[in-house]
Amino acid sequence: MGVPVLIYSLLFSVFVLILLTCLCFLLLGPSKYAGPAAGSPGAVVSVDVLVLGDIGRSPRMTYHALSIAKHGGKVNLIGYLESPPHPGLINNTNITITPLPTPPQRPQSIPFILFAPFKVLYQIYHLFSLLAYSLPPAQWILVQNPPSIPTLAVASLVCHLRNSKLMIDWHNYGWTILAGTRGPRHPLVYLSKFYECYFGRLGHFHLTVTKAMARQLRAPPYKITNPMIDVHDRPAAIFQPIFSKSEREQVLNRVLPASQRQLVPQIMEGTMRLLVSSTSWTPDEDFSILLDALIKYAAAATGEIVVPVLAIITGKGPQKEMYLRKIADLTAAGRLPNVRIDTAFLPFPDYAKLLACADLGICLHMSSSGVDLPMKVVDMFGAGLPVAAYSGYESFGELVKEGENGHGFETAGELAGIIARLLSARGAAELVALRRGAVREGGLRWDEMWDATVGTALGLTTEKRT
Ligand SMILES: *[C@@H]1O[C@H](CO)[C@@H](O)[C@H](O)[C@H]1NC(C)=O
Ligand SMILES: *[C@@H]1O[C@H](CO)[C@@H](O)[C@H](O)[C@H]1NC(C)=O
Repeated sequence: MGVPVLIYSLLFSVFVLILLTCLCFLLLGPSKYAGPAAGSPGAVVSVDVLVLGDIGRSPRMTYHALSIAKHGGKVNLIGYLESPPHPGLINNTNITITPLPTPPQRPQSIPFILFAPFKVLYQIYHLFSLLAYSLPPAQWILVQNPPSIPTLAVASLVCHLRNSKLMIDWHNYGWTILAGTRGPRHPLVYLSKFYECYFGRLGHFHLTVTKAMARQLRAPPYKITNPMIDVHDRPAAIFQPIFSKSEREQVLNRVLPASQRQLVPQIMEGTMRLLVSSTSWTPDEDFSILLDALIKYAAAATGEIVVPVLAIITGKGPQKEMYLRKIADLTAAGRLPNVRIDTAFLPFPDYAKLLACADLGICLHMSSSGVDLPMKVVDMFGAGLPVAAYSGYESFGELVKEGENGHGFETAGELAGIIARLLSARGAAELVALRRGAVREGGLRWDEMWDATVGTALGLTTEKRT
C-alpha cells in the first residue's frame, strides 16, 4: 500500500469520525441565540472570541476582546492559557476567559500523519461542546484564522445551530503556512486550501490585516462575497517613543545585556549605533541575510569610516544556537570588525523600551501568503523606530512607506547599503526624517480605527469610517 493511499484512507476515516461526533452532538440540540439581531442598536452585544492558540501570545484577539468590553459588549475569550494574558483581561467585568484544555503532545515515536487526526478530533470535541453547550449562545463568534482546522468548521457549524453570526479575522492563510513547512505539493496542503476556501465563505463578516488580503479573498479561489473590511494592526500602548536623552540613557543601562553596557556612552554620543532585530530564528526568517549584511558592512572600510554597530537580536527559536556559533566563529576570524552582535530575551515592557532607544530596527519577516504584515514592525513604529525590512511581498507598502518611515531590502547587499548609509554622517538627516515618519505612523493607534470599523460592524459604535 502506497503512502498516498494510506493518507487518503486515514483522512477519510477521520472525516467519518468527525461526522459521527457532530451528529451525536446535533441530536442533543444546543440552545439558540434569541436576543436582538446582531448589529441592531441597543442590543447588548455578546461575542465569543476564539483563537486556537495561546491567549497571552494573541495580541490582536486580545485587543478585539478589550475593545468590545470597553464599549459594553460581553466577551467570552476562548483559547489556551499558557503564558500570562494581557493584564487588561484579568478582572475585567465584561470579559470571561474560557481556557481550552491543551491538546496531548505528539510522542516522538508516532508520525505526524497518524497523530494529527487524533489531535484534531480532540480539539473538535472540546471546541464543540464548549461553543455549542457550555457557553450561552452569543450574538457573534469572532474567530482567528489561522489556525483554521478545526476552528472554522466548528465555529460555522455552531453559528448555524445557535443562530449566531460568524466573523472571521484573517491574519494569514493556514494552507500557505502549511505549504511552507510540508512543501507545496503535500496532500494536506490541497485539503486545507479547499477547507479554508469553503468554510471561509461561510463567514458573515470578514476582517483582514491588509487591503491586499481583502482583495485576494474577494477573488478565486476564496470568492468571498460577504462584507469585509481591512483592519490594520496597531501598536499596543506599551510601545511609545522615548524623546528624553536621560531616559534613553537610563533605559539602555538597564535593558542592554550586561556585557554591552559599557557601550552606552558611545551609543548616546552616536559614535556607536544600535540596531535591534527580533527574530523567531526559523527558516522563514532568514537570519543569514542580516548576518551577511553585517559582514559586508564591516568589510566596506574603503572610502568611508564604518561607524561601529551594536546589533541586539531578541527572540527564541530553533536556529539560534547554530547562528550563535557562526557569529562567534566569524568574530574570532576577524570578519566582523566594528560589529558586535549580541542576543537578549527581554520581558515585554523592556523589549518595548529597547526598541524606543535603538537607531534602526531590522525586520526579516518573509510573508508566506504575501499579504500579511509583521507585527514587530508595527511595534517598532509604535516605539518611534524606523525600520529596514524585507520587502519581497505584496502588502509590504501598506506598512512601510519607502523613504518615509523605513526602507525595504531583498538581499543582504541592499540591507548592507541601507545600514551603511543611514548610520553614517551622510545619512544622519535622512535617519531623523525616517524617525519622524515612524513616530507619525506609530501614532495611529488601535482604538479610533477599531471603533470606526469592527465596532460599527458589531453594532457597538456608530462612527463612520473616515
Ligand atoms: C463593561 O461594560 C459596561 C457597560 O455595560 C461599561 O460601562 C464598562 O466600562 C465596561 N467595563 C470595562 C472594564 O470595559
Ligand atoms: C484581580 O482580583 C483579585 C481579587 O479579586 C486580586 O487579588 C488581583 O490582584 C486582581 N488582579 C488584577 C490584575 O487586577
